[in-house]
Amino acid sequence: MEDKKLHRVNSLQGAVEAPGDKSISHRALILSAISDGVCRVSGLSGALDVQSTAACLRALGVKINKAKNGAIVHGVGMNGLRAPQKILDAGNSGTTIRLLSGVLAAQNFTATITGDESLRNRPMRRIIEPLDLMGARINSDDFKAPLTITGGPLRAIDYASSVASAQVKSCILLAGLYARGVTRVTEPYHSRDHTELMLQEMGANIRSSEALAAIIGPCELHARDIDIPGDISAAAFFLVAGALIPNSQLVMRNVGVNLLRSGILHTLTSMGVNYQLSDQIELNNEPRASITVKTSAWHATTLGGALIPRIIDEIPILAIAATQAEGVTTIKDARELRVKESDRLAALASNLNKMGAKVREKEDGLVISGPTVLKGAELDSHNDHRIAMAFSIAALIAEGETTIQNAECVDISFPGFYDILESVIHD
Ligand code: S3P
Repeated sequence: MEDKKLHRVNSLQGAVEAPGDKSISHRALILSAISDGVCRVSGLSGALDVQSTAACLRALGVKINKAKNGAIVHGVGMNGLRAPQKILDAGNSGTTIRLLSGVLAAQNFTATITGDESLRNRPMRRIIEPLDLMGARINSDDFKAPLTITGGPLRAIDYASSVASAQVKSCILLAGLYARGVTRVTEPYHSRDHTELMLQEMGANIRSSEALAAIIGPCELHARDIDIPGDISAAAFFLVAGALIPNSQLVMRNVGVNLLRSGILHTLTSMGVNYQLSDQIELNNEPRASITVKTSAWHATTLGGALIPRIIDEIPILAIAATQAEGVTTIKDARELRVKESDRLAALASNLNKMGAKVREKEDGLVISGPTVLKGAELDSHNDHRIAMAFSIAALIAEGETTIQNAECVDISFPGFYDILESVIHD
């Protein structure tokens, strides 16, 4: 386990290609794997989480070859997966276990899927309950992984999810691909729709609107070449850094700006940040753009309600920004952060306190007053990639030295994060 030592910097300058979107990469591999032919996937994320999805699919009999900038996936068709010879390992990845469970629920074999210690402590009742209603049998200890899934013929359901979670919605839609009839999912707020958009691209009979996603099964998926945009959740660390650090200008190229993912742009606007979009295009239903950001005068805001699912992975870095914003920033309705790779509200509050920030932890959020001069400290990454990256950016504006413990966990979503950061530092 490696620690990372970081110091204050004077300026960030340069242009950075955002790494492939992690969420879309999982979906590209899974949907290609059950499609009817060969799919070339470009722009694939190199994240360890995505490698976990690829490894599980290989264990289910899918051939996935590495290719320049991506992979070639040899789809086995809707019913071509084979019973795995070993326990499937989703590593640290909630998306891998929850989406693959939806597919496994419809297979005519039994498979067990598990993950690392963090994943084995995350809530799985949210997918077990709907899959059980559809007719799958899932054994678990207290609704936690490992999950042993005995699949079979599924029935379509109408399901009102109590959480706005794209992982839950996608799990049900993937099972719904195999179920006879219309499977409908509603959620309290609209979560990211990458699964719906890609299913549409591949010919599934799917409709979605803000209130509802509905799929008519069973249906075949047609192989397509898929180009994946850059990950706005990875770009977010650089967008915030470029707007926080004095004398800075950064360009993030080819960033996915799907409306349900780009709440950070709305938030930057409401906090007074100076940024511009250019080179806007749409490929495979997913819009993308270059984003240029400059040093800005931040002010406080309130983040809550329908915005939360659209910034769910960006809240750690926005909490760092809030320490530099004039006024009181309130983050509310963000209880879900307690069941991510770590309890992110607790991890943010404890590390911000160590750096001398003015922060109050609430059951569903944080209240942060600014601006405060942060002090370097010895910080626990909680083995959570987004906590490690958020506090690495905080270290660049803090007095003295900051140590991030177990910083290599950034590879879960963003291998190369520290090299790219190094390349834009101008001291
Ligand atoms: C993801 C959905 C979100 C997000 C996670 C990736 C996805 O989780 O936090 O990093 O790929 O569907 P929830 O769906 O649990 O909110």
